Parts: sequence; C-alpha cells; structure tokens
Amino acid sequence: MKVLRNVEEALEFTKGNYQKSVGLVPTMGFLHAGHKSLIDEARKNNEIVVVSIFVNPTQFGPGEDYEAYPRDEERDFKLCEEAGVDAVFTPDPKEFYQNHKTYVTIEDLKDNLCGKTRPIHFRGVLTVLTKLFHIFKPTNAYFGRKDAQQFLIVKKAVEDLNFGINIVPCPIKREEDGLAISSRNVYLSEEERKAAPILHKALEKGRAAIKKGMKAEDLIKIIVDEIKTEKLSDIEYVQVVDTKEIKDVDVIDGDVLVALAVRFGKTRLIDNFFYEVWDV
Ligand code: PAF
Repeated sequence: MKVLRNVEEALEFTKGNYQKSVGLVPTMGFLHAGHKSLIDEARKNNEIVVVSIFVNPTQFGPGEDYEAYPRDEERDFKLCEEAGVDAVFTPDPKEFYQNHKTYVTIEDLKDNLCGKTRPIHFRGVLTVLTKLFHIFKPTNAYFGRKDAQQFLIVKKAVEDLNFGINIVPCPIKREEDGLAISSRNVYLSEEERKAAPILHKALEKGRAAIKKGMKAEDLIKIIVDEIKTEKLSDIEYVQVVDTKEIKDVDVIDGDVLVALAVRFGKTRLIDNFFYEVWDV
C-alpha cells in the first residue's frame, strides 16, 4: 500500500494508473466499520482503491471540533492495508490549502438541515472533494448514507459540474443496539452512549408509521416524542425534506429524507432514513 503525503506524490500515482478504474473513499480518518464497508464496496468494483484520510479544516466552523476530532493514523493505515487498499492520501492541511482562494459551493441545498447550524460546512466539503476528484480522477466515489445531506449535495454538484464520477451511496452501519456508527461516538460519556440508541428507535417508529399522504408534522411528532423519552437528548432538528431540493414538505407524497440531529451533552449525532427510493 502506498502512502501519499502530498499532492505531487498523489498526481504521480494517478498518472501511473491512467486508464484503470479508480474507486475513491474520501474520509476524515479514525476509520470504523462504516468506512470499512465503503472500502469493501470500492474494492469489489474498481481496479485501484484510494482512501483519503484528511481532517478537512475548511468544513469545520469556528468553535466546532476540528482540533479535537479523533485521529489515529497507525490504526487507519492498518485497516486500509488489511482491506486491500492500493493507496492512502493523507496530506498536511497547511500545504494542501496553501494560500487557498478558491471554494466550491452549492445554492439552496446547503441551507437546510445541518446547514442551518453549520453554514460553511458544505462549502468546505465540496471544496475538498473537488480537489480530491481532480487529483485522483476516480471512476466511482463512495459515501455513507448517514451523512444524507452530504450525499445529496455531492451527487447534485457532481452532476452540475460534469465531473463524470459515479457517486455511490452505501448503507448506514450500526452498532448492535442500533446507534449509527460514527467517529464522533467516542465523545459520548457512558451514560450518553446508553441513551443514544433512542435515535434509531425513534426513526424506526417513524419508519413504521410513514405512509403516502401523511402530514410531515404528524410523523415528526412521533419521532420527537420518542426521542424526548431520553432526558439526555437535546434535539437540534427532526425534519422531513424532499430529496431533490432538500426543502421541508408538508405532506409525504414523493421521495423524502427523514433526518435528525440531536445532541447528547457536547456530542452532536445525526441519523436518518430515506422513504420510497432507497427505503431499506
Ligand atoms: O464524510 C466525511 O467524512 C467528510 O465530510 C468528507 C466527505 C471526507 C469530506 O471531508
């Protein structure tokens, strides 16, 4: 497995693999079973698999957890090596963004859900992904459905800007008690960790109740009431949006994303399900 530490080395690697199919798995490291499932999917369908491991400073707002974000390079490299990854790309943030002036953003889709409290987040995500896409010219790029808004935004931006990359969504990986696996779960105290599976339980209650013609507010109430049975939960949002514009819907009559962000202490967790198109 090659370790690429800067853009020059990465471009050299890309040149050497010209005309091979490349699967890119963009990550911020501290890899877990969710990332492993993306890598496995990439391994199945591409000649070359590249994993980027980069805690991207431009997608963190002031006061967010950029500095504290968990990092473990040795463990990440081992997981990648064992999963048959061809190259990991882990640049130095200062060098990667040296004198950087160019950003990629999307209209409208960034403004709802997580974008309401994280206004610069998706600009940072699209900027780093644009750089990664240009550097590695992947055939396929793999994203978890846990970050549902990110997936919808990346898919739209890739279409709008004619990147010619296939964006592959992968299922949410969960702990046995239903908690969606996330690098941020390590922030939870023992008590908060016990409380957090309420999110999945509440979404499952919603999933059992959802049907065409239902009012979104009735569905939201079912989910919110369930989450509130956990005293440690602090709801940021529970919303039902359409999957094209990411706008709130009044009545469920098309493809929708049911998404939430909830804090347990200082830890902000997200989870969701899609209804109709990809309902699993
Ligand atoms: O989902 C993530 O881990 C990040 O947002 C991504 C896609 C790697 C961009 O930094």
